[in-house]
Amino acid sequence: MKQHTIGFIGAGNMAGAILNGALQSGIFKGEQICIFDVLEEKCRPFAQKGVVVCGSSIELIKKCDMVVLAVKPQIYPGVLEEIKETVTNQHVLISIAAGISTGYIQSAIGFECKVVRVMPNTPLLLGCGATALSKCACVTDSEFQIVSRLFSACGIVEILPESQMNAIIAVHGSSPAYVYRLAKAVIDGAVQQGIDSQVAAKLFIQTIKGSAMMLEQSGQTPDELIQMVASPGGTTLAALREMDETGFDESIQKAMEACTKRAEELGK
Ligand SMILES: NC(=O)c1ccc[n+]([C@@H]2O[C@H](COP(=O)([O-])OP(=O)(O)OC[C@H]3O[C@@H](n4cnc5c(N)ncnc54)[C@H](OP(=O)(O)O)[C@@H]3O)[C@@H](O)[C@H]2O)c1
Repeated sequence: MKQHTIGFIGAGNMAGAILNGALQSGIFKGEQICIFDVLEEKCRPFAQKGVVVCGSSIELIKKCDMVVLAVKPQIYPGVLEEIKETVTNQHVLISIAAGISTGYIQSAIGFECKVVRVMPNTPLLLGCGATALSKCACVTDSEFQIVSRLFSACGIVEILPESQMNAIIAVHGSSPAYVYRLAKAVIDGAVQQGIDSQVAAKLFIQTIKGSAMMLEQSGQTPDELIQMVASPGGTTLAALREMDETGFDESIQKAMEACTKRAEELGK
């Protein structure tokens, strides 16, 4: 089987999380991994793990056949311009940026290069990520399998058609922030009612974990689980009525629509 080498352009949070997963799972060894960042010091912690630090994105492309473009979406045009002369039809470009489509990358590179579009999320940093993947027709099954294994090493993966890759960001890419926002609102609400914030945080974090396990393991729908908590005439029902009146569901759905719209803008 072909031995692949993988490179990361950008040594930020996401690159670090994916790279650690690659090393820990043994999918890639240190010497099979390259990294480049405009700030060289960001690469130093990876050099200590045996990863090869490159002096430019072009050097990295020459050394690697799989390349994770781990920079912010706004930086993509500059990076693609820089590497376009060096990318060949043997490279697999792995894009993790919100909104950047396969077509956008291929048009910037100048030919139908191999692209796997990926949407990970930040819990990947703890090996507990959720990642959506979509492959273009020119990526082989064995190449796609390696990319899929790479992200499976830090959580779960789901394969989607590219047409859904913008909308899925609202489901798992951005949604950790909704959960943190909910946590903040609950903790702030507890403080307003005289409860210590650390005690409230401890109890609510455990509640998020437990509720996630109920959703995953009970076999019941969200509505059935709500019914288990909300007895007639009880406290939960009073709270849920208030959420209905203030438009909780609509607010979340509007937030999701805004997320998708912004992804579409970033891809233009
Ligand atoms: N964070 C999330 O929740 C999340 C979820 C899913 C997908 N993503 C995607 O993942 C990508 C990376 O996100 P991140 O949070 O890891 O970003 P990040 O921490 O800002 O990392 C990006 C790194 O790339 C560096 N960089 C900037 N321009 C460069 C260039 N021309 N060549 C090489 N390196 C360059 C940045 O340096 P400077 O800091 O000096 O600019 C920074 O160190 C983004 O496209 C984002 O949309 C993020």
